[in-house]
Amino acid sequence: MDLLIRNGRVIDPASGIDGRYDLLVLNGKIQAVQPVIKPPAAIDCRIIDAAGCIVTPGLIDMHTHLREPGHEYKETIQSGSRAAAAGGFTSIACMANTEPVNDTAAVTRFICERARTQACVNVFPIGAMTVGLKGETLTEMGDMKAAGIVAVSDDGRTVADTEVMRRCMEYARTFDLPVICHCEDHNLSRYGVMHEGITAMRLGLRGIPPIAEEIIVARDILLAAWTGYPVHIAHVSTAGSVRLISDAKQRGIPVTAETAPHYFTLTEEAVIGFNTDAKVNPPLRTAEDRAAIREGLCDGTIDVIASDHAPHSSLEKDVEFDNAAYGMIGLETSLALTLALVHEGVLTMNQAIEKLTINPARILRLPKGTLVPGTEADITIIDPNQRWTIDRDHFFSKSKNSPLHGMPVTGKVLYTIVAGTVVYPFPA
Ligand code: DOR
Repeated sequence: MDLLIRNGRVIDPASGIDGRYDLLVLNGKIQAVQPVIKPPAAIDCRIIDAAGCIVTPGLIDMHTHLREPGHEYKETIQSGSRAAAAGGFTSIACMANTEPVNDTAAVTRFICERARTQACVNVFPIGAMTVGLKGETLTEMGDMKAAGIVAVSDDGRTVADTEVMRRCMEYARTFDLPVICHCEDHNLSRYGVMHEGITAMRLGLRGIPPIAEEIIVARDILLAAWTGYPVHIAHVSTAGSVRLISDAKQRGIPVTAETAPHYFTLTEEAVIGFNTDAKVNPPLRTAEDRAAIREGLCDGTIDVIASDHAPHSSLEKDVEFDNAAYGMIGLETSLALTLALVHEGVLTMNQAIEKLTINPARILRLPKGTLVPGTEADITIIDPNQRWTIDRDHFFSKSKNSPLHGMPVTGKVLYTIVAGTVVYPFPA
């Protein structure tokens, strides 16, 4: 079926479009974006009235954890893709820390095949940089790329040995694979369960200092400068990291960065009461860090907003704080938290959309994130003013580990469209 989306405010930062347009989709591709398009005669064309809504390129989440293979009780490729669709994402890139780790072409092929048959959005696997995420032996990145990976990362772990990290980058360059860095000095963060500071002291919990992140951000920036190969810094959480990345960009070093909505929304105080749903790595930081993250988003230091959707079940979360798993889900809340920045005047709508569409597409080198005619019709339609309350009992994710339960937000996904097919709302 073809689609005519009428009367919406079309925002496509990649082509500089922001205005009232109609958008025609034929055979799964964007056919035209024009002020007024008449419904084509004699073809089966569904008309969607998007008056009062924003029509954007399908959102892209470049940092998702699906738990398949290995921990399907937390999330599957199918359930994670449904959570993505409900959150407005038409493409997600999934990290390699599954079980087994996605460190071979066989695992990559399994994920791609599962996604082909079970996912309602595009799933792009990210391969491990080192075998078993152990930071020792490089993976066969070329084989994995042929099987479908779009980037490499040991997310969840830092490649601690700098020489190995250098070789990872040089090997990734051979295959033109983006390198995504999880920045954490595991010696400095060891035993820490939340941000190191006054709140941790009051709660009697061991802290993770900001420098545990910053020292590796600095190292990986230096490696990017030395090798000339770009690095993408994952889930930036501290003011110091923002400063390092900003300085590096000013010096022309090829570095890009992402943050996750929880870092510009919450602070370490979300942990008070030993709320394990607020336990995440890197940890929630201070109000000053949160302000710096917002500033970094606004001035372009931080290119991308990514969910870092990290599903865990009650088995890992309904335990003592020290023993709880790190991570929170985010696919179904990321857009609303991003729109809060727009409503608060921190970002323009264009900036927000850019960080959820064309910027991740460029970093992952995907031919997506735009509504230019001829491209695959991945589209998200958003009512920016609809109020709703985050309710973990209504998530499509298999997991419920969100510290945002009960938060009132403004801005809701109405339609998620993948290659011209409406995938959300889900068919009855
Ligand atoms: O909190 C986190 N959870 N941080 C990570 O880096 C990994 C993730 C997970 O996989 O649960």
